[in-house]
Amino acid sequence: MILVPYVPTPYEVIKVMLEMAEVKPGELVFDLGCGDGRVLITAVKEFGANAVGIELRRDLVEKCLKNVLAEGLEDRILIIEGDFFKVNISPADVVTLYLLTSVNEKLRPKLERELKRGARVVSHDFEVMGWKPIAVKDVNDGYRNHKVYLYKV
Ligand SMILES: C[S@@+](CC[C@H](N)C(=O)[O-])C[C@H]1O[C@@H](n2cnc3c(N)ncnc32)[C@H](O)[C@@H]1O
Repeated sequence: MILVPYVPTPYEVIKVMLEMAEVKPGELVFDLGCGDGRVLITAVKEFGANAVGIELRRDLVEKCLKNVLAEGLEDRILIIEGDFFKVNISPADVVTLYLLTSVNEKLRPKLERELKRGARVVSHDFEVMGWKPIAVKDVNDGYRNHKVYLYKV
């Protein structure tokens, strides 16, 4: 069940997302619908985190794996091929999302149930309805304005 098309997050936006979430070395970042792995790779290379990506599309899982191997980050990044609704996300310190408001709404009970206290959720462009963001930022990547919403569990 693919609920969201693949649109990659620009690098400038990823940086702001991970900075706003204050990702620290050794923390675990989950990207739900990880696409080509760019969020995972940035979290590991630039923030010292470890990362888990979950992706439903086989072609993107393969692309992601290729990119992770090219960076030599296979010890730090786990890629799970599957539906993020069915994967346990409780170890996450930070969860990154670039989905849709409707999907965030379906995910919210899972996030509330599984995430630990103090975990941060950072969402590109789409709010988590029913939660109050602790920060919102606009990022211009040279083409358009992106919004980033930060939440704390
Ligand atoms: C808008 S893209 C974002 C990709 C990446 N997170 C980024 O920011 O560059 C959304 C991704 O979620 C994946 N996806 C959609 N529904 C999913 C699901 N239920 N489980 C796992 N992946 C899913 C899509 O295949 C797509 O790659």
